[in-house]
Amino acid sequence: MVKILKTEELAPDIKLMELEAPLITQKVKPGQFVVLRIYEEGERIPLTIADTDKEKGILKIVFQEVGKSTKLLGTLKAGDEIVDLIGPLGRATKIEKFGTVVCIGGGVGTPEIYPVAKALRQADNKVISIIGARSKNLLIMEKEMRDASDELYITTDDGTYGHKGFVTDELKRIIDRGTKIDHVLAVGPVVMMKAVSKLTQPYNIPTLVSLNPIMLDATGMCGVCRVEVGGETKFACVDGPEFDGHKVDFDLLIARQRIYLKEEKESMELFMKTHKECGHV
Ligand code: FAD
Ligand code: FES
Ligand code: MG
Repeated sequence: MVKILKTEELAPDIKLMELEAPLITQKVKPGQFVVLRIYEEGERIPLTIADTDKEKGILKIVFQEVGKSTKLLGTLKAGDEIVDLIGPLGRATKIEKFGTVVCIGGGVGTPEIYPVAKALRQADNKVISIIGARSKNLLIMEKEMRDASDELYITTDDGTYGHKGFVTDELKRIIDRGTKIDHVLAVGPVVMMKAVSKLTQPYNIPTLVSLNPIMLDATGMCGVCRVEVGGETKFACVDGPEFDGHKVDFDLLIARQRIYLKEEKESMELFMKTHKECGHV
């Protein structure tokens, strides 16, 4: 059993959770993730490690409540326990001195890019970050990203905070002002990562994206997380989750993410009905 030490609502339907995980925190590197199960028969949910406190053995995750399992996770409080947590999983982000790096986080991609931005800055890169959300109230981790970056730009789709528009508009502005960018890392909704990769390709700026296909075992055994990169089949859980954005078949990824939409919708409706009756959500 794994103990929940703290929970905090960062924005509507977006929560931070601190878990007691002394063994995992000792090994974590930026870009890696964990898989957790809330109860014995529950689904396995992959979530990126947003931060760690190695001394205290605390692992932090940030999740958006998008369906049954994340909604249920969001009902848990400090002192509650989840049945298991495995990790760290996936290949860590390659941290080296590239020069000027642009780190882009969209929505809950921001907590995922945060440890990466921090590590790249420690490796002497100039870190320019762009974080975006649909609206001001959904923007998270601004302070952390400001601390981890040399320059931070903010976008909201509706213009309620920062620049009105998408993260790609800011990236284009940085390219157009003549900044030489050596490396781009983007984490967020697939459509955002696709747009970033499309923008950087003609400029030949190496671009890494963190893919989030449906995962089951997350150890390379089941094949559920397969993605196509440069015409080859890769397993995102063990070969990724980061891949060359210029080679990813994003449309296939989007289609595969939607395979169980009907079942997910039914499961969520049933969950909300039963939990509303007992006052949990
Ligand atoms: P459901 O209603 O079951 O599904 C909603 C959508 O989530 C689906 O359409 C599907 O596209 C996706 N999904 C469903 N089940 C899975 C699964 N087993 N694995 C992956 N995707 C699934 N989300 C965050 O909010 N924060 C994170 O830090 C984060 N990191 C991730 C890291 C990786 C490597 C991966 C693969 C995914 C990550 N996700 C993260 C996505 C998160 O795992 C899904 O949102 C979650 O599993 C949805 O479960 P659900 O039952 O609440 O929703
Ligand atoms: Fe099973 Fe990747 S989740 S092979
Ligand atoms: Mg689910």
